[in-house]
Amino acid sequence: MDTVIKSNIKTIYNQDYKSLKELFIDYRATQRCLPAFNVNDNYDLKAVVEASDDMDTHVMVMTYPPVAELNTTEVFRSLVDGFKKRSKNKIFLHLDHSTSVDLCKRAIDSGYDSVMIDGSQVSLEKNIKMTQEVVNYAASAGVVVEAEIGKIMGRDVVVKSDNDFLADVGEVKQLFEATDVDLVAVGIGTAHGFTPTEPKIHFDRLQEIAEAIPAPLVLHGGTGIPDTDIQKSICMGMSKINIGTIVHNTYMKYAFEEMKKAGNDAYPPYVMKEVLPKIKNVVKDRLKAVNYK
Ligand code: 13P
Repeated sequence: MDTVIKSNIKTIYNQDYKSLKELFIDYRATQRCLPAFNVNDNYDLKAVVEASDDMDTHVMVMTYPPVAELNTTEVFRSLVDGFKKRSKNKIFLHLDHSTSVDLCKRAIDSGYDSVMIDGSQVSLEKNIKMTQEVVNYAASAGVVVEAEIGKIMGRDVVVKSDNDFLADVGEVKQLFEATDVDLVAVGIGTAHGFTPTEPKIHFDRLQEIAEAIPAPLVLHGGTGIPDTDIQKSICMGMSKINIGTIVHNTYMKYAFEEMKKAGNDAYPPYVMKEVLPKIKNVVKDRLKAVNYK
């Protein structure tokens, strides 16, 4: 099974593109999906790059705002550039879930390939305005912009009723047509983080959205979604999937274990030498789920 997956990925997922925009347009047309992992530093970044090399597939790495703020967008750009030189495949850098237009602009100025402006918690009118401002700023640099409609549940996202998280098709269309944004993340029932029960994905809503707009769609909450639902979503227009919690949870859990073992002698490179393969394993597991064809 492993061999079949790997050989297919080789022909399908390491193809060259002129730009990330072009890659996403092609992925939506051919029902493929770019796996995107939230990373925190050079160590989990290295694990993602090595996993992508082993599986021969392009990947995206994403910094949440606290990671971008702590490391600075400039330093993270340089870090990814360092790894890119040693990788056979493309490693794209994205700013994830920024509610700040200013942070998006900083990431664009630092050379990020892609940014997300998350206006899902504000009114549609404000969401459109923020998204438009980032799209305009990103245009000359050719940077991809992702917007969000509906809500990805979990963490501090407040959902007022059962259907409050679901993206409204009319609103998706309105946001897309007003902004011409490249990627649209849509609330269809997935949640960030580990979920006590399997998330119930509203595939009917996904289908309506995919029929309403041609933009590549983004599936958030990749840690808790069963492989078969990931694969079904890809066939229905999801061209990017975000995976985060399983990466940082594995990182923290095994780092803690190693530090307990070493006690006062804990030394970061020795600890991380043990932790890195564990992160790489979970990344490879998610890559297999995404690149199933
Ligand atoms: P998980 O943390 O559930 O994998 O979701 C990540 C995500 O969607 C980041 O935008």
